Amino acid sequence: MKLTDALLGEHGVIYDLFGYVRDRIEDNDDPNDIQAAVSVLEKLLLNHAEIEETLLFPNLEPHLGQAGPLAMMRAEHEEITELLGDAKGETDVGALKSIIGELLDLADGHFEKEEGALFPMARKFLDEAALTDLGDQWAASRKVNANAKGCMG
Ligand SMILES: [Fe+2]
Ligand SMILES: [Fe+2]
Repeated sequence: MKLTDALLGEHGVIYDLFGYVRDRIEDNDDPNDIQAAVSVLEKLLLNHAEIEETLLFPNLEPHLGQAGPLAMMRAEHEEITELLGDAKGETDVGALKSIIGELLDLADGHFEKEEGALFPMARKFLDEAALTDLGDQWAASRKVNANAKGCMG
């Protein structure tokens, strides 16, 4: 499996989580409940960004340079991390909900940019073998058995 396909699959799952968190905070004023949702969001978003920064971005750097789209994606990862930190430290429910709203909008737009621009660049500049090798590294890191031969014994 290609790394870009694996990352798209992660986006799909995290989009579902965005919807869950939006629903969860809508009619809920219990800060503990909201913070519990933020914790799950934090775990998935930070892990996902780390995988991109470890496996994808360094391999695109020779083709795209450090500026441009990669700088923008890294800056957005940092912004997401900062907003998660702000949310964790916020005790006022109204302010907390507004930070989470900002975070979800930013993360949603970030995913769209990756899907619409960055991943297509990856498919253009990295050949199938390179993307598949990176996909194998993704599978090892995520502990997913992606290359089984299909024998049930
Ligand atoms: Fe990203
Ligand atoms: Fe992503």
